[in-house]
Amino acid sequence: MANKKKNASVRLSPHVKPTKYVVAMKPDLDAFTFTGSEEVHVTVGRGMKAVTLHSAEIEILSAKYRVGKKVFDGTVSYNDHEETATLLFSKSIPKGRGIIELEFAGILNDKMRGFYRSRYKHEGKEFHMGVTQFESTDARRAFPCFDEPAHKAIFEVSLIVPKDRTAISNTLETAVTEHGEYKVVKFAPSPKMSSYLLAFIVGHFEHIQKKTKSGTLVRVFTTPGKKHQATFALECAAKCIEFYEKYFGIKYPLPVMDLIAIPDFAAGAMENWGAVTYRETAVLVDPEHSSTQNRQRVALVIAHELAHQWFGNLVTMEWWTHLWLNEGFATYMEYVAIDAVYPKWNIWAHFVSAEHSRALALDALLNTHAIEIDVNHPAEISEIFDAVSYSKGASVIRMLAGYIGESAFKKGLRAYLQKHSYGNALTEDLWKALQKASKKPVATIMRNWTRKPGYPLITLEEKSGFLELSQRRFFPNRNPENKDVTTWMVPLSLKEGDRTKRTLLLKSKKTRVRVKKNVYIKANTDETTFVRIKYSAHQLRLLGEEIAGKKPALSEPDRFGIIRDAFALAKSGLLGTDEALLLAKSYQNETSYVVWSELAGQLLTLRSLLFGTPLAEAYSAYARELLAPAVKKIGWHKKKGEPEDDAFLRATLLHTAGLFGDKEVLTTAQNLFQKEVRGKGNIHADIRGGVLSLVAQNGSKKEFEILKQMYDDSSLEEEKDRLLRALCSFTDKKILTQMLDVAFSKDARGQDTLKAVTFVWMNPHGRTIAWEYVQAKWEYIVERYGGGHLFSRFLSPASNFTTLDEANAVLHFFKRHPAEGINRTVLQSVEQIRSHAAWLARDKEKIHTFLKNY
Ligand code: BES
Ligand code: ZN
Repeated sequence: MANKKKNASVRLSPHVKPTKYVVAMKPDLDAFTFTGSEEVHVTVGRGMKAVTLHSAEIEILSAKYRVGKKVFDGTVSYNDHEETATLLFSKSIPKGRGIIELEFAGILNDKMRGFYRSRYKHEGKEFHMGVTQFESTDARRAFPCFDEPAHKAIFEVSLIVPKDRTAISNTLETAVTEHGEYKVVKFAPSPKMSSYLLAFIVGHFEHIQKKTKSGTLVRVFTTPGKKHQATFALECAAKCIEFYEKYFGIKYPLPVMDLIAIPDFAAGAMENWGAVTYRETAVLVDPEHSSTQNRQRVALVIAHELAHQWFGNLVTMEWWTHLWLNEGFATYMEYVAIDAVYPKWNIWAHFVSAEHSRALALDALLNTHAIEIDVNHPAEISEIFDAVSYSKGASVIRMLAGYIGESAFKKGLRAYLQKHSYGNALTEDLWKALQKASKKPVATIMRNWTRKPGYPLITLEEKSGFLELSQRRFFPNRNPENKDVTTWMVPLSLKEGDRTKRTLLLKSKKTRVRVKKNVYIKANTDETTFVRIKYSAHQLRLLGEEIAGKKPALSEPDRFGIIRDAFALAKSGLLGTDEALLLAKSYQNETSYVVWSELAGQLLTLRSLLFGTPLAEAYSAYARELLAPAVKKIGWHKKKGEPEDDAFLRATLLHTAGLFGDKEVLTTAQNLFQKEVRGKGNIHADIRGGVLSLVAQNGSKKEFEILKQMYDDSSLEEEKDRLLRALCSFTDKKILTQMLDVAFSKDARGQDTLKAVTFVWMNPHGRTIAWEYVQAKWEYIVERYGGGHLFSRFLSPASNFTTLDEANAVLHFFKRHPAEGINRTVLQSVEQIRSHAAWLARDKEKIHTFLKNY
């Protein structure tokens, strides 16, 4: 569907290079407009009559070009599709340096991109702040600029704002002058950087601050009344900066690092250099009402954005094809930093679940894409902020770091950052540095991991004293179209029984190694390599026995990987679903959170698949029985000194058991809720989300009204999220429709509309309602979200459907309503629905027989 030619090369002319922008912006926070003026200092490579730069939805009021005292007047024409403005001068402007001078005006939009407005309350009144979100290509919506990552320049910003507001930009303010109702806040020049990293924020804020050991001022800004929720972020940010300075061997180059909580925000957070913006739920932690899960998420988000200050901001990808260098790397570093700062969190186990496995799921599809991919038009760029760039990117980096070793990895990284500071880099540049540091053929090993889509399934077969390992690309269904002859270079380690592990580098389709007989073999020790493993039936039995034993000698990621791949193979038809369900029973004594979260996730996927079929009840009974001992063991209350992960485990087990209809769990949830409603105690934040959802799942109008009131009354966004999820968990279709009405009303925040659609769609009782609603509102969705970061997410939950009719309906709807930036997501969803349908058709009988006999 994507038409590459149509979008071929959108790059600006290489003959005009910006070196410095002097920009002044004046937002009108009541009329929702802004005006601005700028000087763009440029170097022109040859004489020319016209200069083209990026500009979208901005009116350029005047354009001049100045060389010394000489002024060239310009006229402006626009190209809406290319998002550019061309300044045509009466005479040719000369080669060499000059200054483009522009005055312009635009709209402070409500689309969470460019320069936009966000709503908040202060002293009982409603106000709007002005805030920016420029990545990937929306700086051009705030001021005309050379909006490509390789066009680095210095930015000198002034913000002209009402006297009672706070103005924030990337650097510290250097001067404030007052003019009547307004003040002009001038900021220090930025380092040389890309336009997508610039930020302006204007509104009522309060803040707290501290200094890092090496003297960087760290501040956390919130809207009025919320600064008590900023303490955790402040501590965490300071520690992360100190960690990265040591790890990268480069001091954080700005005097200030601001973290700003923004009520309306499209992404989770944005790494603007020195002024990172966050959605409130991704940075605020309430000392009394926040969950352990939320605190950990906040820490990871902060660590991610701070990693970008080096990897992304100091050294930037040359073009969006190398987006993964930014995002994959920052995602990997999140865990490196958090593991150092909070060593008790067991964070690498979370990596395997949250990143590695998520990427294996998406990248299995025929409609995935290579990590490095040719992208041109902005909509295509938006579409690759996905699990491939982030999670597969992070996973292949972890695989490589493991293979070349921590110290070579760090050494290579430092050299790379030093060499390209304040510049741009390609994927090969990173490989070169790591190759030099490790003396291993990094570029050769990595080529197919980043330039080819997908990843291999490694099949293990025992052949008289040998183990044969063969590789072939993994697909979630056995469609004959799905052929791929790629051979990957696979660093793979094996653990044979209690013998220490050994590492191989598979270079061809088939490899043979000698192994002991009759011991279990766990391939891909600790799940460090980006592959799935298919064991022989015999091997799988041995592994199951080991796992079911008292003290399994397999690590948490190992136990995790075995069950994850078993279900993936079941889905693709390479293993019977009955065999996967049998293997699952070996996990009854499991105590690890990540392992249970995987198992619970797999169980719930099958629940969704079997929903509405005659097998649903027998299947739920199986799941309840499987979960029961663990549920009992973990209990409802936090135990003193328990591991951090137990908070996660408790939430996951209780919620999952409740979803499968565990009577005891549902009754306790109901009791806790009633008690709280009567004002006699609060449900603990760690299990609160699950409890509220279970109450809703089994509730009616009465519960809906109570929960809705709680939602309206709450001022903590995290709590609002829990309540929103609960409100979308009812089974009554009328209630669900009513919730979607709320979510699409004008009072709802832009990000919450999407959340409600997603939650209702993931609720098996709400699937059809959500889909019909999205179709009915499609025009509105395109208008409000089209081309933006959240757009394709309005349809990705369609992948929860299970029938071919539904697949066709989705496909046909989007054939009739084509839009840029969703093609790949449509194809991915349809592919997933089809594979669900094929799975069910193939294994329904097997599941039936299993459920009768297990
Ligand atoms: N650079 C991104 C923000 C972004 C995302 C901009 C998509 C434009 C489009 C930022 O560093 C990021 O990755 N944010 C993540 C959170 C992170 C912890 C994975 C996000 O917003 O989801
Ligand atoms: Zn990022």
